[in-house]
Amino acid sequence: MKKLFVICIMSSVIVFFELSFKSEPPKANYPVLPKDSVGSVKAFMSVYKVLMSARCMNCHPSGDSPLQGDDSHIHTMNVKRGADGRGLYAVRCSNCHQSENTEGLHMPPGNPKWGLPPAHMRMVFQGRTPRQLALQLLDPKQNGGRTKADLINHMANDELVGWAWHPGKGRTLPPMSRAALTAQVKLWIAKGAYAPSAKTK
Ligand code: HEC
Ligand code: HEC
Repeated sequence: MKKLFVICIMSSVIVFFELSFKSEPPKANYPVLPKDSVGSVKAFMSVYKVLMSARCMNCHPSGDSPLQGDDSHIHTMNVKRGADGRGLYAVRCSNCHQSENTEGLHMPPGNPKWGLPPAHMRMVFQGRTPRQLALQLLDPKQNGGRTKADLINHMANDELVGWAWHPGKGRTLPPMSRAALTAQVKLWIAKGAYAPSAKTK
């Protein structure tokens, strides 16, 4: 009986240490520079241009239909988000979008994770002002529970984000390289993660 008790205590101590180890914040992947609201906002404005470019915005629409093409028109064939972002009823994204781009002009692009953000966290970029989008990206309640370090990691390593730089025939690339985007996101955050003023367009 006594032995069992000791084992119980020991294992809860181990579990406790494991939990506290796991909840340690991820190592910061950005430097902390002196606060600089002008420099921080300047970096965000170049990030904003990428977020509002067709390759990103087409999957971050204000409505429940994805957008298509460099002119971001509403997706044809009445395709809808659905609860999980991967389609409604029988019209699932994966019916047409494979895990790789399908070769040829006007063919469906592809990625294993192809879909919109889910209905409970829609992560809208379309129509957001720079200030609104900056605040949204920094808010864990709206950004998928991400810390600032997670946000940088998402820009640098997420495979859907990466698709934008090899989008298939007939689609333009975002206005800067992925490495440049990551560097600007880091700079925005390192200098204090300031949101542009409401007047900034
Ligand atoms: C094929 C659709 C698709 C494309 C293209 C796409 N995204 Fe997303 N994005 C998603 C989905 C789905 C999520 C939610 C899943 C998640 O949280 O990982 C998401 C989440 C995000 C998030 C985190 C949530 C937030 O709003 O803070 C950021 C940042 C983001 N995307 C940036 C980009 C950028 C930058 C590009 C273009 C270079 C891009 N996305 C292109 C589908 C897409
Ligand atoms: C019935 C087939 C079909 C279904 C279902 C479908 N798509 Fe598409 N999608 C296409 C085709 C074809 C294209 C390419 C159109 C073109 O380039 O002219 C496309 C293009 C897109 C683009 C444009 C990429 C860009 O940047 O130009 C996005 C975003 C997209 N689909 C998202 C989705 C999402 C999200 C779903 C599920 C909710 C979905 N699609 C379901 C056929 C489909």
